[in-house]
Amino acid sequence: MAKIFVTRRIPSSGLERLQTQFEVKVWERDDPPPREILLEQVRGCDALLTMLSDRVDGELMDAAGKQLRGIANFAVGYNNIDVTAATQRGIAVGNTPGALTDATADIAVALMLAAGRCFRTAIQNVDQLGWRNWEPMQFLGQEFGGKTLGIVGMGRIGAAVAKRLHFGWDMKVVYTSRSTKPEMEALFGARRVSLDDLLTESDVVSLHTSLQPETRGLIGERELRLMKQSAILINTSRGEVIHQTALNGALLNGTIFAAGLDVTDPEPLPSDSPLRQRENCVILPHIGSATHIARNRMSNIAAENIIAALSGRGMPYPVA
Ligand code: GLV
Ligand code: GLV
Repeated sequence: MAKIFVTRRIPSSGLERLQTQFEVKVWERDDPPPREILLEQVRGCDALLTMLSDRVDGELMDAAGKQLRGIANFAVGYNNIDVTAATQRGIAVGNTPGALTDATADIAVALMLAAGRCFRTAIQNVDQLGWRNWEPMQFLGQEFGGKTLGIVGMGRIGAAVAKRLHFGWDMKVVYTSRSTKPEMEALFGARRVSLDDLLTESDVVSLHTSLQPETRGLIGERELRLMKQSAILINTSRGEVIHQTALNGALLNGTIFAAGLDVTDPEPLPSDSPLRQRENCVILPHIGSATHIARNRMSNIAAENIIAALSGRGMPYPVA
């Protein structure tokens, strides 16, 4: 019977499908398996179901052994996986596209509102200062109606954010993307522009690129300086897309108004990271896909990827 290692507890929907046909081992602890234990646990496995927090490289694949045929990442992003190393070894790699588009787009909108309307200091006022007064001159934030939204990376999630904010808040949409998106241009008059123009024109900049060598550190000091002082930067993609030291400086100096981050570099963000001190920075612990619906879909899709790989068919959701 084929063996599968699942690196964390996931919703039972997909897990049960695997358990009926394979020998499935699940890492049941709350914290991820430490590297040495991971290397040990994968030994002899035919497939792995991995999280975005697991580094899946050639060493891990070799630790599993030559029978390893498939790796299903429980995420849409797969920058944690060395796909080239997998391909060289004839191992299929799959992800969970589409499952978390709406859930993640909702978090981007939530972060825009939370950062733009000073939730962090407002909640501190209630929680730590005992709710002092109604304040006429404090917690003054931004409005979004009719403003310009810049989507960096107009994929599924970027489009879902644009749709919400164009139809809900009447925002104008500009975007960067590897290719023009005629459907988005027709649907909400989105305009494809250069990154510099997007940063200069936008009131809200939302990042939706995958992490690639060319998107690592994409938003650095120069880019932040191009943004409006009233602008808000949202990141629900990968922390490494932003140069974090530069962002900390920009938030401290008032180069931009605020930031809302669902992702950081690294994760978790160390407690002494200066970014944690910035009152105009709202940070969430990477909860973009954290809904019952999204995580159930992800569980099913990851299971389907594994079942296909082990039956010698191509994965329904391959990454390459
Ligand atoms: C979450 O960040 C994912 O890539 O699924
Ligand atoms: C993710 O699903 C994306 O393509 O944006």
